[in-house]
Amino acid sequence: MAAAPTASGPAYEDTTVRWFALAAVLWGVVGMLVGVVIAAQLTWPELNFGIPWLSYGRLRPLHTNAVIFAFGGCALFATSYHVAQRTCQTRLFAPRLALFTFWGWQAVIVLAAISLPLGATSGKEYAELEWPIDLLITVVWVAYAVVFFGTLGTRKVRHIYVANWFFGAYIIAVALLHIVNSAAMPVSIWKSYSAYAGVQDAMVQWWYGHNAVGFFLTAGFLGMMYYYIPKQAERPVYSYRLSIVHFWALIFTYMWAGPHHLHYTALPDWAQSIGMIFSLVLLAPSWGGMINGIMTLSGAWHKLRDDPILKFLIVSLSFYGMSTFEGPMMSIKTVNALSHYTDWTVGHVHSGALGWVGLITMGCLYHLIPRLYGKTEMFSKRAIELHFWIATIGIVLYIAAMWIAGVMQGLMWRAVNPDGTLVYSFVESVKATFPFYVIRLLGGLLYLGGMLLMAWNVVMTVRSGQVRAMPIPSVAAAHA
Ligand code: HEM
Ligand code: HEM
Repeated sequence: MAAAPTASGPAYEDTTVRWFALAAVLWGVVGMLVGVVIAAQLTWPELNFGIPWLSYGRLRPLHTNAVIFAFGGCALFATSYHVAQRTCQTRLFAPRLALFTFWGWQAVIVLAAISLPLGATSGKEYAELEWPIDLLITVVWVAYAVVFFGTLGTRKVRHIYVANWFFGAYIIAVALLHIVNSAAMPVSIWKSYSAYAGVQDAMVQWWYGHNAVGFFLTAGFLGMMYYYIPKQAERPVYSYRLSIVHFWALIFTYMWAGPHHLHYTALPDWAQSIGMIFSLVLLAPSWGGMINGIMTLSGAWHKLRDDPILKFLIVSLSFYGMSTFEGPMMSIKTVNALSHYTDWTVGHVHSGALGWVGLITMGCLYHLIPRLYGKTEMFSKRAIELHFWIATIGIVLYIAAMWIAGVMQGLMWRAVNPDGTLVYSFVESVKATFPFYVIRLLGGLLYLGGMLLMAWNVVMTVRSGQVRAMPIPSVAAAHA
């Protein structure tokens, strides 16, 4: 159902936006629940129950695919379709095709949820899905590009607002990454072999893997930041000029940083060094973007006190700053010699994933959902506040436990006696990690608890009787 046309604006096509927004909440609960299950399995391996499709090795990719592509992906679809219409003052291009992207993406998610526990995997991290699903992803993604760029092409204003640049870059880059990295020779319906071999295979995979972080988990969410933070704070972007510099610097730099995942491997040394240098450079655009987002609150800091949605949005940027400081440090070869293979990496991942991606998504959905359903606000503001605090405490428990465990593991593994023998056996480091896995599980449970609270609040909001007067769109409002 399209929103009613107004004197000064077009009727927006929000059916697909609504469905994607609700799907993001649903898949968030599912993906995080699987995260909690695998965190429990790492603590008590008996929880694998000897059942192959419940085993850690199969559930782990289910978790990563569910949280990144189902939870994050649905939120990106919803917000990009929503933002493009408002900032271009036009209706979604090809709404039926947009609906196709919804059902196509849900089909990809369901197929992943079936095939991964059954053990069908290409073995490439974050690209585990087998070739028939890869083909479906390609079709859906091309349709997504047509809808998004079609909307931009039929815009009623000359300027293309910066949020759309970030969304556009994410859509193009993910298409490129997916097609190149998924090239494979099928041998049966559920089995294929990569088109690349040896170190080239590893390099293509981590060019993909790192840019999945850079474009899927970062650029698209920065698109959200540039629209929803100014909207929620009712303040213009701190520096529009900085946002443009931020955009070009970020997309140029990310592409070259992938080799930091392959330090001390058969990859030529010079390629590893390029990866390290570009990772260090990446600190600058990342922090430029973070500062631009946080400073958007200039003159409105008091709003943080009683607006829990702003708390989600601004604290997500603090975690973004933290993980994009930590990442460049971990890319320094001597630091990576300690951190690689340890839980430090997992801590880094989740400070970005739970802190940045998770919190900004939740903040944007809290802003968006009441508006999509014509309601004045979310059903319970106190539940949003509570969600914010338990999620933040959950993140801190999770990442602090992993940092301590990671550094401890690294130091234990490299400790040698004067005669050159190892001080600790591997199993001793596993035993020493146990308490930290318990703390991580507790943090994960809190984070999942917050997500369940959000799901309840969303259901109550959609079903509640309150009605909001539909705002009249205007270019000034869209760019505010
Ligand atoms: C309740 C919340 C969550 C819990 C308890 C959780 C737990 C876990 C666990 C136990 C692992 C495996 C770590 C290992 O291999 O040693 C993992 C991996 C991962 N998770 Fe989560 N997770 C949660 C939420 C999320 C979210 C929201 C995202 C992304 C938006 C995410 C992204 C990832 C990624 C990318 C990995 C792979 C990390 C790597 O390869 O180093 N997780 N998670
Ligand atoms: C300036 C930005 C960043 C840099 C330079 C960076 C750098 C790194 C480095 C050096 C590693 C460890 C590689 C290894 O030892 O195997 C890593 C792992 C990872 N980072 Fe980042 N990081 C950045 C930001 C982020 C953000 C914001 C996120 C999440 C939203 C993120 C997600 C990940 C993931 C998922 C992995 C684990 C990959 C795997 O082994 O499966 N990173 N990053």
